[in-house]
Formats: sequence, C-alpha cells, structure tokens
Amino acid sequence: MKTAIKKTTASKSKSGNTGTAANKTTTAKATAKTTSKTTAKGTVKAKPSAAEGLRELFVDSLKDIYWAEKALVKALPKMAKNATSQNLITAINDHLAVTEKQVARLEEVFKSVGEKAAAKKCDAMEGLIKEGESIMEETESGPVRDAGIIAASQKIEHYEIATYGTLAAFATTLGEDDAVLLLEKTLAEEKEADVLLTEAAYNTINFDAKEEDQK
Ligand SMILES: [Fe+2]
Ligand SMILES: [Fe+2]
Repeated sequence: MKTAIKKTTASKSKSGNTGTAANKTTTAKATAKTTSKTTAKGTVKAKPSAAEGLRELFVDSLKDIYWAEKALVKALPKMAKNATSQNLITAINDHLAVTEKQVARLEEVFKSVGEKAAAKKCDAMEGLIKEGESIMEETESGPVRDAGIIAASQKIEHYEIATYGTLAAFATTLGEDDAVLLLEKTLAEEKEADVLLTEAAYNTINFDAKEEDQK
C-alpha cells in the first residue's frame, strides 16, 4: 500500500504542473457533464429524445427491465456457483428458470402494446449486479458469502418488485389490460423469490454465518 502511495507521489512530482492541469481538465469535464444536464435552478434538462407522455415512459421502462432481466440470466448462474448452501443454490437456480420465462413474457408485453421488443441498458441493475460481485469478492466461500449473496439477491428482487409494480400501474392507467395481467404475473414471481430468499436466510444461512464469527 505504502509503495503504491509513493509511486503516485513520484509520478505526480515528475509530471509537475502537467499532472495538475490534467486533473483540472478532468474536473472541468466532470462538472460540465453534470451542468449540461442541469439548469441553474437545479432542474434536469430533458434530452431531445425525452418521453413526452406516460405511454413513452412506460415503453422506455419496459426496455430497461428487458435489459435487466437478460443481464440477470447471465448473472444468476455465477451467484449459484458461488453459493454453498443447497437451499440457496436451489432457490437461485429455480429463479433463473423463472427469469428466463420472464424475458419471454416481456416480449409478449411488448407485442401486446404494439411495440417491438428492445433492450436499453438499465444502470440500476448493472450497479446491483456489480454490488453482488463485490460482495462475493469480499467474502470467503461458505456461510458468510451465502449471506452476502442473499443480501445482494434481495436488493435485486426488491428493485424488480418496484419496477413491475410501477409498470403494472402505468399499464392500468393506459388501459393496456393484457399487459397488466402479464406484468402482475411477473410481479407475483418476484415477490415469491423474495420470500424464498428470506426463508433461506432465516432458516439456516444467517445462523451459520454468525457461527463463523465465533470460530
Ligand atoms: Fe425478474
Ligand atoms: Fe427476480
């Protein structure tokens, strides 16, 4: 650690003013990036492509969750591979199968509202998946990592519950009855996954993880 600090200091002193100028440029760029989206009053300036009505916001949110579910199909097997409790492995693998169906169900939702299925990167889900990976890196394999995997998975499920709840409410307002049924079906599955994860945590995993503290 000390060596790393020394190196940084050395490179800074070698580059002298240039380094400082570069830092200033980065800061200026970062500030410009923030201010370009925000007006003097602090309100966010809309992009030219911004949604004008609830329908557009609904479709945009569908694209977000479509990306998120596809990302989960890739992320869940890694979580299952790193879990050690059989209960947890089964819960994750079962939810992987459910998630694959949810991707297909979202395609039905797009179809039911007359839109082409398209994915748009969901920053929130990308962050939640990254957080799950960091938890795995920061824990030893075993009950403690299992508890961490449950924590990360529940954050993901809660994000999905909030998203599908909102989407179902938007679809209700828009009179998209077929979409409401499909979205509520997925919402129920996400809630069930959350309950199963809570049960897995309270039945054994958290207690086993606590035992590790006493070793
Ligand atoms: Fe899902
Ligand atoms: Fe889920």
